[in-house]
Amino acid sequence: MKPEFLDVLRAIKDKPYAEALSLPGAFYTDTEWLDIERERLFAQHWICVGREEEINKSGDYITFDLASEPILVIHSHDGVIRALSNVCRHRGTVILKDSGNVKSLLCPYHHWAYDTTGKLVNAPLIEPSSHYDLANCRLPQLACETWQGFLFVSLSSSPPDLHALLAPLDVEIGNYHLEQMQLRYLSDETWPVNWKTLVENFMEGYHLSPLHRNTLHKVNPTSLCQQLAPGTAYFGYKVGFSTRLPEDRIGHPDLSEAEMDTCVMFAIPPGLTVGIGSDYSSFLCIRPEAIDKVRVKIGLIFYGDQWHQKQIDNAIKLFQDTMQEDKEVLEQVQYGMGSRFQVPGPLAPPDMEGTVWDFHQYLARALERAGTE
Ligand code: FES
Ligand SMILES: [Fe+2]
Repeated sequence: MKPEFLDVLRAIKDKPYAEALSLPGAFYTDTEWLDIERERLFAQHWICVGREEEINKSGDYITFDLASEPILVIHSHDGVIRALSNVCRHRGTVILKDSGNVKSLLCPYHHWAYDTTGKLVNAPLIEPSSHYDLANCRLPQLACETWQGFLFVSLSSSPPDLHALLAPLDVEIGNYHLEQMQLRYLSDETWPVNWKTLVENFMEGYHLSPLHRNTLHKVNPTSLCQQLAPGTAYFGYKVGFSTRLPEDRIGHPDLSEAEMDTCVMFAIPPGLTVGIGSDYSSFLCIRPEAIDKVRVKIGLIFYGDQWHQKQIDNAIKLFQDTMQEDKEVLEQVQYGMGSRFQVPGPLAPPDMEGTVWDFHQYLARALERAGTE
């Protein structure tokens, strides 16, 4: 790996925030660097792949690519949610596509069949023999956890305890009860930008007022942003409301008045960002597809059953309009990052861009030794 990447990351760890700078463009444009991020971040850490609700029923499954690995998560018939390799043990075909509901996992090529726990149950015309242990053949199983209604998967064979890692964040956001919110909008998209720009954009409040002048600024302006103390596995900020909220607004009874009046934005890097409101919340599950291409599962989850479709449609519209503004500017970021004239610039005060620095600190912790071991 090019030594300048390591030099930048090491410098970040030693620098006070007053001297914070953005990352050089090569971090967003160098394909070799993406290979390292894939291996060291996405193939090691806990990655959020969606909501538990997506696989509510027995036999429900979703599929996705994680660090170039075809993976499926299935609600097995024994009630357990499992993450399995989605690669047939016969000759390597990817078994399931997209999402759906199945009685068994049938490989399309030669019809080897696995039960929903991943055990091989039928291999047509293959006789038992001593050179291959058919009886114990099964799809490799990966670490899989749910937290606050989110599904997490890790390719690591010994991942850290996710719930312990996130316990301090639970204290911060527990009263919003994300696990009780229901999915009412889901969109699977590909954006032509580096995955990190999407994390950074969702996680900083500096752009709320200037970029979202006609959308978010009216509700959550930059001036009301406040950085949270970061943990090892998360970082975030809070932002208040500029408008008076309706008296009958929706939210869990555990919420204090102050919490009702506050949104909490947090990231569990590398791949999850969440924007919590008492009434509804948004999330992005982010995975790189190429250095300048990111796959993002975007969702909105709502608290309670008393919503009229019109209110939901309004929330979706505001969210989509805001995301469109983000998308347009991030495409310009991606273009600009490739410029020979692009150099790191200073970050705004911590309440506005401290979370970008938190993200870079996470990258530095995870990657500063990459390529030297
Ligand atoms: S590759 Fe799956 S049955 Fe042959
Ligand atoms: Fe934005």
